[in-house]
Amino acid sequence: MTQPHDPLGALRGAVERRRFLVGVTGGIAAYKTCTLVSRLAQAGAEVTVIMTDAAARFVTPLTFQALSGRPVYTSAWEHVESHDPQHVALATRSDLAVVAPCTMDCLARLASGQTSDVVCLILSAIDRATTPVLLAPSMNAAMWAQPSTQRNMALLQGDGYRFIGPDEGWQACRTVGAGRMSEPEAILGAIADALKAPSRG
Ligand SMILES: Cc1cc2nc3c(=O)[nH]c(=O)nc-3n(C[C@H](O)[C@H](O)[C@H](O)COP(=O)(O)O)c2cc1C
Repeated sequence: MTQPHDPLGALRGAVERRRFLVGVTGGIAAYKTCTLVSRLAQAGAEVTVIMTDAAARFVTPLTFQALSGRPVYTSAWEHVESHDPQHVALATRSDLAVVAPCTMDCLARLASGQTSDVVCLILSAIDRATTPVLLAPSMNAAMWAQPSTQRNMALLQGDGYRFIGPDEGWQACRTVGAGRMSEPEAILGAIADALKAPSRG
């Protein structure tokens, strides 16, 4: 008897029953993150979405809540338990975190150790020696080419963050160039690869 076709079979093998944090920051590519979250959820992963204020202007928390089937975190001040603050609990129970899209500003905040928004705060509580943190930068070509962005990328690579993209191609500002967020399928591939080799040590 032939088995039913499972288009998510390979992904399921990599992510099923694993716990993921998906950080969303304020870029136009946030619409692609809906597909990313949906695929992970369909493949049996537990997905918790965390969003900056700017991200919530592009896609509503309700959309991610429906796609992930879980609460979406939009503030550092939700579910603050004295014994287990939200940012520590979410960070320590995750197998991998990915930020997609990752804005120019988010790269700068992470590179300088800022924790003023919920995404950077939760990432600050992750030990990258054991839990991979993958960033998918997304910005206009001029923003991507800024010396500050390139400096921050080098710093973050040295600090053990992993990257997927950005790609070259059509941008929302109606030009073609470098800085476009990688497609959800490529990000899923990078997630599967990172899970195979979680430690950078
Ligand atoms: C329509 C629009 C599109 C934007 N797209 C991007 C983008 O693709 N990448 C980026 O780095 N910033 C983009 N920005 C700017 C960010 O939203 C802004 O820097 C914001 O403060 C980022 O906040 P966050 O990193 O906390 O999410 C865009 C702004 C607007 C108004």
